[in-house]
Amino acid sequence: MAGTGVFAELVDGDGVFKYFSSGEWKKSSSGKSVPIINPTTRQPHFKVQACTQEEVNKLIEEAKTAQKSWAKTPLWKRAELLHKAAALLKEHKVPIAECLVKEIAKPAKDAATEAVRSGDLVSYCAEEGVRVLGEGKFMVSDSFPGNERTKYCLTAKIPLGVILAIPPFNYPVNLAVSKIAPALIAGNSIVLKPPTQGAVAALHMVHCFHLAGFPKGLISCVTGRGSEIGDFLTMHPMVNCIRKQSNDLVELYLHCPDVLICGLNIFCCCFTGGDTGIAISKKAGMIPLQMELGGKDACIILDDADLDLAAANIVKGGFSYRREKSLYESFHFDFSGQRCTAVKVVLVMESVANALVEKVKVKVAKLTVGLPEDDSDITPVVTESSANFIEGLVVDAKQKGATFCQEYRREGNLIWPLLLDNVRPDMRIAWEEPFGPVLPVIRITSVEEGIHHCNASNFGLQGCVFTRDISKAILISDAMETGTVQINSAPARGPDHFPFQGLKDSGIGSQGITNSINMMTKIKTTVINLPTPSYTMG
Ligand code: G3H
Repeated sequence: MAGTGVFAELVDGDGVFKYFSSGEWKKSSSGKSVPIINPTTRQPHFKVQACTQEEVNKLIEEAKTAQKSWAKTPLWKRAELLHKAAALLKEHKVPIAECLVKEIAKPAKDAATEAVRSGDLVSYCAEEGVRVLGEGKFMVSDSFPGNERTKYCLTAKIPLGVILAIPPFNYPVNLAVSKIAPALIAGNSIVLKPPTQGAVAALHMVHCFHLAGFPKGLISCVTGRGSEIGDFLTMHPMVNCIRKQSNDLVELYLHCPDVLICGLNIFCCCFTGGDTGIAISKKAGMIPLQMELGGKDACIILDDADLDLAAANIVKGGFSYRREKSLYESFHFDFSGQRCTAVKVVLVMESVANALVEKVKVKVAKLTVGLPEDDSDITPVVTESSANFIEGLVVDAKQKGATFCQEYRREGNLIWPLLLDNVRPDMRIAWEEPFGPVLPVIRITSVEEGIHHCNASNFGLQGCVFTRDISKAILISDAMETGTVQINSAPARGPDHFPFQGLKDSGIGSQGITNSINMMTKIKTTVINLPTPSYTMG
């Protein structure tokens, strides 16, 4: 159970989860707490400390100090501790998963998978870091015109300093470790501000790093209200890098400043993600930023596509699907549409549209809808405001004449999967990111029309194309203005060592394990100047 066993020290006498600073679990001097609302019951389930700006100052100062000696810790030793943390994450997948079920309504088995995937990511990062950071570069001066061979240049990668990581609610553990592990292997210290929904799972994850034996002050985790510590964190002069990742909708961003606080490793999947990203960039100043800022991931279906394959991927990418034969115990490809990489618009050639829509409808009818504890395919979306936002898109589509393939149904935060056919560009759902189980289908009469719609979006995260003609697929991939194009499969971030990036308003920088390690370093060169030879040796 959450907060019991090895995790008992995380909870104070009033049942409030503590924050982590100086290698210890602490109560905030504010005496206040922030409730975490269970999306299923819509009742408070957990409480976390409402930390103060002074507490943030203290843990950032400690992170600065701890980082100095951590940077001198041998790489193999850093990797060893990361491997220990990875093993602990996997060992404690059950209590972590339980938090994810209660805080974000993630289906039970997928919640456990998130912990296991996170352990794998941390281990891979440790191995990759040893290789990537264990090598430098050697250059000589006489390769540039006018120079003698009198200068040797040695290049190494050095850490940035204090990294602020702000993961999103939909992967509060996995998208936290995707920042924490590269930061630590590269010799940085880390300050984590988890999303409020998902904070307790993140605190459990942090405890696994604590149990692994990382030095005091190197890792800290602060919880609280965005209004109190959000801007304070992202604008803090001692923060050397911000990575943000948030899958919250714009309204959540506006009404819940916690999202902004997700800053050290910034991914933001909200439909005005660009605005959010720009706001953070302005506030953060001249420090490296890595952001994933939402997507309207298009799925283009050509008339020669394998429609069964396309339909299966649309359902798994747009709604939910248990991947069979995965090495993981179970793996829903989607999370009620709450992924930045979910299929967000289907662009299908008119000639095959009827057949495709029928196949998708049959599969949607088989999805189970209900409680995350029962491991249902479709579970409640994260907040009531999120559900209201999705409903607004549905109402707009209804008013403008979209074809409803299922009846729209909602109970509390639970929205039944809905396929909207004959969507036109004047409907909001054609452009906006619902972050929920509602998927628009736009019928197209040419491939160019599909590419045009995809590229007219401000977003450019991922896209996919279904065709049996690989040459066409590659030409379409070249034409799509997205960070990744999947050929004959739904969009996805993983495997976690693949590069992952968005174009346009979908982000800054490229992620994936290797890219993240590199992003969390700076290049440092030392030039050895030799005396000008007055005679020729040999
Ligand atoms: O929601 C954003 C995540 O980066 C998506 O990751 O494709 O593994 O679900 P995923």
